[in-house]
Order: sequence, then structure tokens, then C-alpha cells
Amino acid sequence: MKPLVLSIGGSILASAETEFIKELAGMLIRESSRRRVFVVAGGGSTARDYIRKSRELGADESLLDEIGIMATKLNAALLISALNPHSAPLVPSSFEEAMVLSESYPIVVMGGTHPGHTTDAVAAMLAERVGSNTLIDATSVNGVYTADPKKVPDAKKIEKMSHRELLELIMEGGSSGAGSNIVIDPMAAKIAERSAITLYVLNGRDFEALERAMKGRRFDGTVVEG
Ligand code: UTP
Repeated sequence: MKPLVLSIGGSILASAETEFIKELAGMLIRESSRRRVFVVAGGGSTARDYIRKSRELGADESLLDEIGIMATKLNAALLISALNPHSAPLVPSSFEEAMVLSESYPIVVMGGTHPGHTTDAVAAMLAERVGSNTLIDATSVNGVYTADPKKVPDAKKIEKMSHRELLELIMEGGSSGAGSNIVIDPMAAKIAERSAITLYVLNGRDFEALERAMKGRRFDGTVVEG
């Protein structure tokens, strides 16, 4: 069975109660009895707060990215705390390290890698590296919308779309607004397109959707393929 690759938004992890993280960990542990599990944690509000303050203090853009990466690793460590002893006890900084750790542990949780992209792109590259043709993107909205649903009340959820359609939507700014609330990083969408990786976009707080997507069943969210 192909490994599971899950990108979990920092907005889900950073604000979560410990009960939620325990439940998420339980689900991942159960899944890890069927196949290897790789999780990429995002930075969420921790990343945004530190980046905003450091920018005000004069940090350059690549230092800001490094600070963002530290926040993603902090969230990864939070999830690792609940997965012990099923996951690798440390947060890998590269795909090679993640792959080596996965030889010894059923679950590996990582954060960001290099400046210049987000953890969605890391997760898409990781899916390529571990030979997975699906990527679950657990974010703060239940799918890809025609416009940012937090700003445009009559935005419609798209249940199924192609990689090309997703890229066009990202480019026209339909689901993004300026920068921060983009549902998927354009680099992640491009990688998914070039390697024909099916994206399952869902709300990470919706355990039923997450469980169903992990099992390959219909779920509340968006499927991006073809
Ligand atoms: P996130 O992946 O959390 O960014 O990384 P995001 O998509 O804006 O946030 P979510 O999905 O709402 O949680 C946080 C920041 O860390 C840096 C970037 O600056 C990014 O915006 N980062 C992260 C990197 O530079 N490289 C990485 O590999 C990952």
C-alpha cells in the first residue's frame, strides 16, 4: 500500500486543544498499522505572529522564512508528543532524513525545509519522494471554493476539479486574496500536476472527512485530479 502523506495546516494544530491532538494522533496511529504515515505540519498563527513581529523589527525575507520553518517544526513537535512511541522522536529537516526515519518508525512528522515555499509544497514534494499518488491537505476550510469563503459569502465549494483548473483559480486569485489565506500554495499545485498526485482538500477539524479521505471514500471536501 502506498504511504499516506498528510499536510496539516498550522491553523489546525496551533490552536487545537490537547484532546483534539490526541484524537488526531489516534487516527494516525490506527492508519499506521496499514501503511507508512508521513505528516507535514504547518506554522499557523505562531508562524504568522513571529513573522509579523520579526518583519517589524527589520528581519529580511529569508530570515522570516526560517522563523516560519521553526514554527512549523514546533507544531510538528506538538503532534509528535501525542504520537510517542509510534512516531520518530525528532523532526526531520530534509526528505532524506524523513525517509531514513521511516525505516524505523511507522509515522514521521516533519515541518518546513527551505525558505521560499510553504509546507503544502513540502508535502507535495514528499509525496513525490515516497511514491504516493495522493496527498491529503487538511486545512481550515472544507475544500476549494470559487473565492475565499471567509471574504465572499456566496463563494461555492468545488467538489471535483483538475490540476489545471486549480492552478487557474490560484493564478486569478480566486481562492487566495492577497497571499495569506490561499487554500493551496501554487508550488504544491504545480508539483501535484506534474506528478499526477490527487489532492484531497478538506477541513482538518472534520475527523469524519479525514477518516473517509484516508480510506479513499467520498468525503466533504474537494478532489483535485486529472
Ligand atoms: P506554512 O506552511 O504554515 O505557511 O509555513 P502557510 O500556508 O502560510 O500557513 P497555514 O497553512 O495557514 O498554516 C509558514 C511559513 O514558514 C515559511 C514560509 O514563510 C511560510 O509562510 N516556510 C515554511 C518556508 O519558508 N519553507 C518551508 O518549507 C515551510
